[in-house]
Amino acid sequence: MSEVVSYELRENIGVISVNNPPVNALAQVVREGILNAVNTAQDDASEAIVLACEGRTFIAGADITEFGKPPKDPWLPEVLTAIENSSKPVIAAIHGTALGGGFEVALACHYRCAVATAKVGLPEVKLGLLPGAGGTQRVPRITGVKAALDMITGGNPVPAGKANEMGLVDELLAGDDVVGSAIQYAKNLVESGAPLKCIRDISIDPSTVESDFFDSARKQLARRARGQIAQDRIVSCLEAAVKLPFDEGLERERELFKELVSSPESASMRHIFFAERQAAKIKDLPRDIAKRPIEKVAILGGGTMGGGIAMCFANVGIPVVLLEISDEALERGNSIIRKNYNITVQKGKMTEDKMEQRIALISGTTSYDDIGDVDLVIEAVFENLDLKKEIFGKLDAACKPGAILATNTSYQDVDAIAAATSRPEDVVGMHFFSPANVMKLLEVVRGEKTADDVLATVMQVGKKIGKVCALSRVCYGFIGNRMLGGYGREAQMLLLDGCTPAQVDGALEGFGMAMGPLAMSDLAGLDVGYKARQARTDLPDDPKLYRMGTLLVEMGRHGQKTGSGFYKYDPETRKRMSDPEVEALIKEEAGKLEVEQSEVSNEEILARCFYPLINEGAKILEEGIAQRASDIDVVYIYGYAFPVAKGGPMHYADSVGLKNVYDKICEFRDRYGEQYWSPAPLLKELAEAGKTFAEWDRERGTA
Ligand code: 3HC
Ligand code: NAI
Repeated sequence: MSEVVSYELRENIGVISVNNPPVNALAQVVREGILNAVNTAQDDASEAIVLACEGRTFIAGADITEFGKPPKDPWLPEVLTAIENSSKPVIAAIHGTALGGGFEVALACHYRCAVATAKVGLPEVKLGLLPGAGGTQRVPRITGVKAALDMITGGNPVPAGKANEMGLVDELLAGDDVVGSAIQYAKNLVESGAPLKCIRDISIDPSTVESDFFDSARKQLARRARGQIAQDRIVSCLEAAVKLPFDEGLERERELFKELVSSPESASMRHIFFAERQAAKIKDLPRDIAKRPIEKVAILGGGTMGGGIAMCFANVGIPVVLLEISDEALERGNSIIRKNYNITVQKGKMTEDKMEQRIALISGTTSYDDIGDVDLVIEAVFENLDLKKEIFGKLDAACKPGAILATNTSYQDVDAIAAATSRPEDVVGMHFFSPANVMKLLEVVRGEKTADDVLATVMQVGKKIGKVCALSRVCYGFIGNRMLGGYGREAQMLLLDGCTPAQVDGALEGFGMAMGPLAMSDLAGLDVGYKARQARTDLPDDPKLYRMGTLLVEMGRHGQKTGSGFYKYDPETRKRMSDPEVEALIKEEAGKLEVEQSEVSNEEILARCFYPLINEGAKILEEGIAQRASDIDVVYIYGYAFPVAKGGPMHYADSVGLKNVYDKICEFRDRYGEQYWSPAPLLKELAEAGKTFAEWDRERGTA
């Protein structure tokens, strides 16, 4: 039928089999093969047609790599029409994940059967898209508009059992021989004279939809989607499903899909989809390197980070020993873990039983004798190099040979920590983000001597506990925190230059950041940065530098925890409010420092805050700290809530144009001084060559 689609007659059932690894994406050869097979089956002895896939999954969607390229025939709607118009029933046999265009193929079939472990879904929204092959028109015809809205704007897969209850799957198959069971189901349908059921023939009664349903959905989603347009267009498609005949609804869906597929948002989100998968790969490591088994883990320190990290492992069934300095500290750590789980239970997202099972996996100790048998230790004690070195010396003595010894340090030198042991090859950084049980990023820090199989194992474990991993070499702050320096600095400098805190944060939140840098400092505690600055000897001697943050701390305004910082906070609701006192203080300080204040545009605020990130990112790349520019994007999306619709700082720089970024940085250098604004040589080189960071990545190849 095509190089990746075969067709055979098994008794009275025609079986179409797709084999396009790894996920049977709907590349041109797949579309062509299915179309040919359906046409062939019209004229043979088959009485029904089963559409199934080989390998690990049913079709997991359109081939995302084809977006943005010239379309090739046959296009997907043509294939779906052929299926729907088949004179014999077509039955989708689902295993693995039927996603996006893959599930839309299944929806065009007359019947859908699935094994119990299968999942179906329309995740297009996560790529800044909408289902473009009838999903928005067919799903509401089965589930009703409300459930369709939740499913399509949420983008999360639905397990087969639930899909069966919703009517999206007609039959649950026992066992896991999907093709054999589907053939039997097809025979039963033939025998019972089952009709050619087409979802397009179902009509939606408009009176079942409240008159303000679509308007209020739009408003709600606009708040949640932070500047992304896909959600809004999905609502429009569902509105079309209710108000227009099927074919006109399809046309509307097509039109809006085309708009989205060429939008910068979707390009950014597709970039992140592939960047996330690339980031997990280490360039100089063979993919099939043997990993060390990780069956038991120890966490040192059950504070803010240690407790959250322990939960990550318990959540996937891996037993954890928590080692603390005292029984009281253990007690405190355990009660925070219980409190965090309780919140999930109260939200209805976990049963009490499940919570108890997970908590039972976490045991506590104050003795190194109890961690001799663990496969992985993650140290999360206070951020103090001498303490960490002392602890790694003890770990060296206590842990079995081959155990991986990881540190969660934010800033300390992983090589110095490794040197405190006799086995630096087993030492690695595993830098989680707070709250560790929620934040998706894990920076894996490769020490000078870290063994290859340690890195490969940690990458695999990271994925297992649901993290997105990115590799960093050792430097102060690794990828993410190192880049952050200039961002926080400029946010405060902008105040002296004439902005209010609300203006600075407003510009960045308007861009899509979940929280502006000043509000974020208030949340983290202004005293944290203050103390960190006091310990540094490398900062320029400039009274303007962090002036406002320093003054506020000295006034006792430490941020949210003291009720005021850059803002004041309502004691009940914690709502942030502008504080005229702070605004007057900024003016006064600017006067004392003889800084001339002026209006600053939002565009200028974005450049002042983001260009230091990008510039430092370029330095990190040329020093080989990060493997790829796209890894840096992954770090910022998953660790710092950079808006995914902008694709991360390096992708954003590419979209602005590296020449524009470079020129602006030079302008800032001339205005504010070289100590803060020295353009990275790599940025200069790429800007002058008219290249992008993406091209730089491509030239260096993938792993
Ligand atoms: N197109 C092209 N490549 C794809 C792909 C797709 N739809 N889905 C996955 N891949 C690639 C990945 O990039 C990866 O490549 P690599 O090995 O070179 O890094 C490989 O397949 C394996 O993917 P994962 O590492 O993600 O494998 P998992 O087993 O962890 O997950 C999955 C499998 C759940 C299917 C996951 O890959 C996934 O969610 N894929 C995307 C599904 C999706 O978004 N579909 C909708 C596409 S848009 C669409 O269909 C439009 C339509 O409405 C017209
Ligand atoms: P924390 O102060 O909340 O917890 C530290 C815990 O370590 C305390 O419970 C303390 O009793 C325990 N501890 C101290 N000495 C110990 C010892 N000798 N043996 C066993 N336990 C000991 O600190 P937090 O915030 O959890 O930070 C821990 C580490 O994680 C630090 O290195 C920090 O830089 C890093 N980190 C912190 C992040 C954050 O946002 N808080 C984010 C990422 C990393």
